[in-house]
Amino acid sequence: MDATLLDQLETHGELRVAARNQYIKYMGSKASILDWVVEGIDEVYEGGGVCDLFSGSSILSAAIGRQVPVYSNDIQHYSRALAGLYLNSWHAPQTPDAKTLLAEADKLVQQRIELIPESLRYRADSTLAEFTRIDEANRTLIDEHFSHRWHYFLKVYSGTWWSAEQCLWIDAMRQVVERFREHPSFDLMMVCLMHAMAYTSQGTGHYAQYRNAKTASSLRDIMTYRMRDPRPYFERKYNATLDTLPKHAPRLQHQITALDYRERLSTLPPCTVYADPPYCFVHYSRFYHALETLYLYDKPDLQVKGGSIVKGRYREERHQSPFCIGTQVPGAFEDLFRGVTESGSNLVLSYCNTGMISLEELEELANHIFEDHDLQILLSDHRHMTMGRRQDRDREVKECLVLVKRRH
Ligand SMILES: C[S@@+](CC[C@H](N)C(=O)[O-])C[C@H]1O[C@@H](n2cnc3c(N)ncnc32)[C@H](O)[C@@H]1O
Repeated sequence: MDATLLDQLETHGELRVAARNQYIKYMGSKASILDWVVEGIDEVYEGGGVCDLFSGSSILSAAIGRQVPVYSNDIQHYSRALAGLYLNSWHAPQTPDAKTLLAEADKLVQQRIELIPESLRYRADSTLAEFTRIDEANRTLIDEHFSHRWHYFLKVYSGTWWSAEQCLWIDAMRQVVERFREHPSFDLMMVCLMHAMAYTSQGTGHYAQYRNAKTASSLRDIMTYRMRDPRPYFERKYNATLDTLPKHAPRLQHQITALDYRERLSTLPPCTVYADPPYCFVHYSRFYHALETLYLYDKPDLQVKGGSIVKGRYREERHQSPFCIGTQVPGAFEDLFRGVTESGSNLVLSYCNTGMISLEELEELANHIFEDHDLQILLSDHRHMTMGRRQDRDREVKECLVLVKRRH
C-alpha cells in the first residue's frame, strides 16, 4: 500500500518551507492554505502522480514535487518557469553564481545606456511636475526604433511599472538568461528575474494597471520603486535558492505543460487531479501579461482600443478563461469534470463560496457527472458544508475543497 502524501512529507515540514519560499506575489495563490490543500489531496490520493491542472505560482509543486511525479499545467507560460524551478532545477557543477550573471548583464547595460537620455532619468528629489514630465517622457520610448534584439521592455514598459533604466536591465538580464536555456538552473534564473521585477515594480503585485503619481504621498511611494536597483533582489533570491537546490538531477519524471486544461486532461494518465481554476471575472492574462512577455520574449502586438494602445499595454492575443466569463462557467466546470472522469482520475477542486458559480450549482453538476464516485465538500474552517441553502449570501469568503474519489 502506498504511503500517504502527508507521511511522505514528513509531518508538513516541507509544506512550511514551500509556503514560505515564494518568488512572486500571485493572485489566488494557495500558499497560505497549502497544508489544508495537501490534506484534501491526501484524502483521495491512491498513489502515482498528481496533476496540478491550474498551477499558477506552482506552490503545490514546491510542496510535493520531491515525493511524487507531478503533471504541472497552466495556460500561462510563465508558470512553467515556477514549476520547473520546483520540479527540475538542481545545482549542477559549473552553475554560474549570481555575481557572474549580474556582471554579464551590467556589461550589456553599459553598452546600451546612451539609449536613455539624461531627460529620462528619474531624480529622487523631483517635484510632482518634474516627475510627471520624466514619467511621460519614459513612455514615449514606445515610438522609438531600437536595432538590437533585446529591447522590448525598454520600448514598451519604460515609465509604466518600471523606469527606462530598470527596463534596460530587465532586457539585459533576460538576454543573459536565454544563454542558459538548456542548463538545469534556467528556471531558477528566470524566476529570480521575475522576483526582482516584482519587488521593483511600482504596481501592487500584478501588472493590470500602473499608478500615476497624483499627490506628494503617491509620488514618494512610486519614487521608492523607481529608484530601486533590481540587482540585489535578483542576487539575494538566486543565492539563497541555489543553496537549497539538490546536488543531483531529479529522480522523478515530471511533466510541465502550458495547455488549456481540456487539452491537458485529454492525454492525462489516471492520477490525482488538483484543480484550482480562477474564481472571479478578472483574467490572469491581463494581470500577469508582463511575466508572459518576459518568459516568451515574443515581442507581441499590443491591445488597441479606440485607435490607441491601451494604458496597461497588454498583449493583443491573450487568453480569455471560460472560468472568468459568467455565461461560460457552468460549461467550463462540466468539461473539467468530464475530463477528469475520462482520464480515470480522482479530483480535488479548490473553489470559494463567492465564486462565479454557487457551491450548490457546483455540487449538483458534480453529482450528475461523478456518478461512480464519492463526493465530499469541505470548507476552510473544516466544517462540512450543509448543502441546499442559499439564504446565507452575506457569509464571509471561505475557501472550499470538493473531493471526488472513484468507488472501487
Ligand atoms: C487560482 S489560479 C491558480 C493558483 C495556484 N494554485 C497557486 O497556488 O498559485 C488559476 C490559474 O488558472 C489558470 N488558467 C485560467 N484558465 C485556464 C485554462 N483554460 N487552462 C489552464 N489554465 C488556466 C490561470 O492562468 C491561473 O494561473
